[in-house]
Amino acid sequence: MIKAAIMGYGTVGSGVYEVIRTNQKEIDKKVGQELQIKYVLDLREFPGDPVMEVLTHDFEDIINDDEVRIVAEVMGGLHPAYEFTRRCLEAGKSVCTSNKELVAEHGAELIQIAKDHQVNYLFEASVGGGIPIIRPLNSSLTADVILEISGILNGTTNYMLTKMADEGLDYADVLKEAQAKGYAELHPEADVEGWDACRKIAILTSLASGNQVDFGQIYTEGITKITKEDFLYAKKMKCAIKLLASSKKVGDTYCAMVSPVLISRDNPLYMVNDVFNAVKVEGNMLGASMFYGSGAGKLPTASAVAGDMVDAARHLGKIITLFWSPEKLTLAPMEESSKRFFVRMKSAEAAKACFGDVELWDAGVQGEIGAVTPVMSEAEFAKKARDAQIISMIRVED
Ligand code: HSE
Repeated sequence: MIKAAIMGYGTVGSGVYEVIRTNQKEIDKKVGQELQIKYVLDLREFPGDPVMEVLTHDFEDIINDDEVRIVAEVMGGLHPAYEFTRRCLEAGKSVCTSNKELVAEHGAELIQIAKDHQVNYLFEASVGGGIPIIRPLNSSLTADVILEISGILNGTTNYMLTKMADEGLDYADVLKEAQAKGYAELHPEADVEGWDACRKIAILTSLASGNQVDFGQIYTEGITKITKEDFLYAKKMKCAIKLLASSKKVGDTYCAMVSPVLISRDNPLYMVNDVFNAVKVEGNMLGASMFYGSGAGKLPTASAVAGDMVDAARHLGKIITLFWSPEKLTLAPMEESSKRFFVRMKSAEAAKACFGDVELWDAGVQGEIGAVTPVMSEAEFAKKARDAQIISMIRVED
């Protein structure tokens, strides 16, 4: 029998407990012996919940129990998750997590500590919820040079943008709905300002490059400025507006960014709606491949954490190699990346005077016109836009 603990009995933690209890027989078969949850750590009480049998309020119970070989860290946030994770790894316990904040900030360091102690630090659930993407990048696609990773990595904002597109609703109304459904993070800024997607693309870029990517270097723009009117244009253009996180290989490094984009029907990400996530990976040999599924939510995320626990149980005493060194990767400046830009301006003349040969779109919004610029660099666009009266701008993903 292998004993395990779960730190945190919130949405994901209670999901992990449920997944393991529900699928206990199958899981035990796959592990080759029983995987038993000995402790669940949380400061709260849960009267009437079967978890009470294994609930502890004291982390020391877990750390001092040599029988516990695997710990799920599903507390979220940096502290005390970081300290608890370190101590577990140093005590010879493998840790499986959904905590993208912690993985993005300390991933390389925690992987190294795990290695030094012959245990594993696994984080499939930190990106794309239930979608397997970390494991494929780390094992199936290792013969490829990853040329591009782009995806819809935040379920909350995708749900909101889908609602705005389908129902013509305002941003503020859809945010309230997303919060009521329990999709949005504790502080909605993490979702709507793009920070959550930023950490996730930082993790994927670290795995693609093998070096630590500092998420603070990634240009990040959220969806807070997207309006109903933007969707009128999108509809006219037969495009969707999505919050895209992307990372493209440039020489020896990558150029990563997070921003809303207009994407056409030809792009497979066009039909990724609601709370679903998708990650498109392009390898130099593989070509394109897409991973799609439930990017957020209790059971999909918990399923990924529990899957890592099974993997950790199957590899007790053996290290699952992860290609992610602490050496920092300097990202390519996003100002040098090129694309088309959609702008809303007062008149066609103004758009032409500013950006030259533009493609014009009239969505029936009074006193303005939409225009798509020719391909230009971010720096060039910023220079031309400096003195122009632009109502709003959305990048175009070709
Ligand atoms: N708030 C996140 C999302 C949860 O909406 O995608 C999953 O990481």
